[in-house]
Amino acid sequence: MVEELHIPKTDNREEVYRSLIPQLEALIGNEEDAIAIMSNVAAVLSKSFGFFWVGFYIVKNNELVLGPFQGDLACFRIQKGKGVCGTAWETGETVLVSDVSTFPGHIACSSESRSEIVVPIMINGEVVAVLDVDSKTLNDFDELDKKWLERIAELCAIYLDVQ
Ligand code: SME
Repeated sequence: MVEELHIPKTDNREEVYRSLIPQLEALIGNEEDAIAIMSNVAAVLSKSFGFFWVGFYIVKNNELVLGPFQGDLACFRIQKGKGVCGTAWETGETVLVSDVSTFPGHIACSSESRSEIVVPIMINGEVVAVLDVDSKTLNDFDELDKKWLERIAELCAIYLDVQ
């Protein structure tokens, strides 16, 4: 396990994402517990980027149930197809929302959230959880975040799959 997180002192998000991948592999590579893995991944993303909210919703009994996160209180359960998270679950695709006020059915856990990205975590072709990141800034996420958060979701899937 890495002793501590090394975050490059730069505003270049890609550089930070790139540096996180090997650190995440080292951090979660030897852990088998899903909640433990998701907890530290949420902490790493929160610490590295200062995201307003970052965390997981886990598929349980045909609902998304709140999992490990960093940020303000959040809603406990989300139905398939509902909100940004439920849409990512239903479609199995990342949903990038530059302005949450324009997303039909957006679930506002916090009125401060302005933009959001939700990435599904797939194991054997099925969504088992979603990674949700919220920002207080409009239009805070783009294809670069999508690319790297999908890479991180894949890492989570690899390590969650061995359980
Ligand atoms: N906004 C999400 C709900 C979860 S919170 O943002 C933490 C949605 O529309 O699914």
